[in-house]
Amino acid sequence: MSDKNEWGSNLSFILAMVGSAVGLGNIWRYPYVLYSNGGGAFYIPYIVAILLMGVPFLILEYGVGYNYKSSFPKAIRKINSKFEFLGWLLPISVFIIMIYYSCILGWDGIYVILSFFKGWGADPNTYFATTLLQSTESISGIGSFIPVIAIAMLISWAIVWYISHKDLEEGLGKVSKILVPLLFIIMVVIVVFSLSLPGAMIGLNELFSPDWSLLLDFNIWMAAFGQIIFSLSLGMSIAFTYASYTGESSDLITNTLSIAFANCAFENFCALGVFSILGYMSLESGTAIADLVTQGTGLVFVAYPTVLNVLGQYAYIIGPLFFITVYLAGLTSILSTIEPLAFSIQNKFTWSRSKTMTILCLLGAVLSMIYATAFGGTLLGYVDAYINQIAILLGVVFECIVFAWIFKCENIIPVLNKRSKTLKLGKWWTVVVKYILPIFIAIVWIGGVLDVINSSSNDQLIVFGILTVILIVLTAVFTKLPATNKDWDETENRL
Ligand code: PFF
Repeated sequence: MSDKNEWGSNLSFILAMVGSAVGLGNIWRYPYVLYSNGGGAFYIPYIVAILLMGVPFLILEYGVGYNYKSSFPKAIRKINSKFEFLGWLLPISVFIIMIYYSCILGWDGIYVILSFFKGWGADPNTYFATTLLQSTESISGIGSFIPVIAIAMLISWAIVWYISHKDLEEGLGKVSKILVPLLFIIMVVIVVFSLSLPGAMIGLNELFSPDWSLLLDFNIWMAAFGQIIFSLSLGMSIAFTYASYTGESSDLITNTLSIAFANCAFENFCALGVFSILGYMSLESGTAIADLVTQGTGLVFVAYPTVLNVLGQYAYIIGPLFFITVYLAGLTSILSTIEPLAFSIQNKFTWSRSKTMTILCLLGAVLSMIYATAFGGTLLGYVDAYINQIAILLGVVFECIVFAWIFKCENIIPVLNKRSKTLKLGKWWTVVVKYILPIFIAIVWIGGVLDVINSSSNDQLIVFGILTVILIVLTAVFTKLPATNKDWDETENRL
């Protein structure tokens, strides 16, 4: 195994983690979640979710990763060798996210270019769905390949490979130190500009006006916990892997607080920008905000281009800046999705970092071509729902139980506290991670499964079935393949 998997400094670790957390979830998901779940009132479940789940869980994942300084499956194997399969489930699921994330990056890359001349024309909706994606819900769409999307995706894969195949600090560490601050700076420019637009206040009033009655609604609590899991990439083996790359003197508790704060500040800042722009649009077009607001691809590739169309000359500056921001946010997140599986393979099969990254990027690029077809957009929605709401959350519940109960989380408290200059862990933390977290995450998981199953078409259920088989087979193969690393079977805990 290459031993160059170590951060050059604590700053690289923090910025890479912030880069992983700050992604499309902050830009295109959070503003809508905030708006549609009680506006200002949403802050109560949101802050509870950060304090009760986000921070304690990140500390747990970091703490165990730091303790073992090894890949995720190897650590799980050391905790109990019967659970090695669980150690592969999460890294493989996260790699599946990577494959479709490359498609969204590809779409956004195309929009960076289009934004210089408003190439989406007068009807951004038709342009996105019909002209560019040629989108169809019929599975036969797999037969029509769209070269421009394929090229844009391959460019993203080439960038990811170029950064990832280098030693950790040379590639990911250095790039995070440049791209993450740049991402924040550009976002500040966009938000300040958006706030200065006429009508911005209309949008912000609409966003924040609290609907306190919703606090009694179970769904907004689910939404808050779901958002924090997705936004902080909680329990996905990314934080674990990044922490296992840290040096001996890392203050993980303080780092956790900084990362959670930066991520949440960024997404609230995005919400200000998005709703100021929607307020402007509402004023210009006379359409109610409720009819303009949307999330996901609809916000980035339809609502934003529509606003840019009425924004006049400013659009030629703000448009490219916006799509570049989305690209940077996506890039710094996608870079983190390859790390857990890559480190696990290096660790078990003694491959070098460079060889592992090259093979995974090639494989990912080939597989991702399924999204460069007319069925790609529809398929992406299905895979995203399955992986995020079903597979990953299930893995996260198990991870929480294994780390808190079988590993015995109280063992790492002295080590973490000794280095912490801020918060000190006590009995409260053990109670939270042993009892509250598994129960809460299991509830979010059950809610997600019911939601996905109730709203699924037959085609969707078939895709879910296929994905389940793929996950089981891959997990079994990686677990069963004999290790070439002779340390793989060592059992002692590294406390
Ligand atoms: N945390 C990222 C966001 O908020 O956009 C999304 C994400 C990245 C989820 C990486 C999962 C993942 F593996």
